[in-house]
Amino acid sequence: MVFTVGGIKGGSGKTTIATNLTVLLSKQGFDVLLVDADEQETSTDFTTWREENLQGEIGYTAIKLSGESVRSQILKLIPKYDHIVIDTGGRDTTSQRAAMTVSDVYLVPFNPRSFDLWTLNKVEKLVQEIRAVKANPLTAFAFLNRADPKGSDNNDAAELLKDSEVFTYLPTALVNRKAYSNAASQGLGVVELEVKDSKAIAEITTLFDSFKELISSEIE
Ligand SMILES: Nc1ncnc2c1ncn2[C@@H]1O[C@H](COP(=O)(O)OP(=O)(O)OP(=O)(O)O)[C@@H](O)[C@H]1O
Ligand SMILES: [Mg+2]
Repeated sequence: MVFTVGGIKGGSGKTTIATNLTVLLSKQGFDVLLVDADEQETSTDFTTWREENLQGEIGYTAIKLSGESVRSQILKLIPKYDHIVIDTGGRDTTSQRAAMTVSDVYLVPFNPRSFDLWTLNKVEKLVQEIRAVKANPLTAFAFLNRADPKGSDNNDAAELLKDSEVFTYLPTALVNRKAYSNAASQGLGVVELEVKDSKAIAEITTLFDSFKELISSEIE
């Protein structure tokens, strides 16, 4: 399965999702490739920290790709890995489009803030354009990241995402929690932190389980 984590908003949590998904899949015993297709190279920095902290035992393979070669290289790499996770930059780039054309699943985190939600229509258009030229289906999931622990903003944002005819809305929101940034700064998934945040672990595993279930029911 090839996953692209994308969207056209900076700082929405793409690298957080991509790295945590990679770590979780590798902990489940899958051979995973993490592809950094963002010129900022944040997931590559994550892997560098991880290599230092885990003495090289990072559990997955990581590479950097950009532009059209995201597509051509990944097509060659698909048979070699169980899963490929592609982290993209927060803009509509050649790299992100190339990643989407070779992906089965497109994951887009949205922060429950207006500037983020205003990008929804543009991302929907992007998905429709890619679907129009792609032979295999591209399942697109939207969900909230950095959600408020309480308050009405989450609900308003959720209503907007639920109404999308392009995205399937995943109802598990990742709340704004220090554990995510603490883990990232050490090159760890949130499940690997020494001081466990059980709420963060529960929500991220529920989120990933929910789309895995939806994907397998769509394939059947
Ligand atoms: N649920 C969360 N709770 C707390 N902090 C978070 C959460 N999700 C992401 N962050 C923090 O927000 C910042 C942006 O997250 P991240 O780098 O994953 O976003 P991005 O979409 O990849 O950004 P870019 O567009 O720059 O690539 C990081 O400092 C990250 O640690
Ligand atoms: Mg990023």
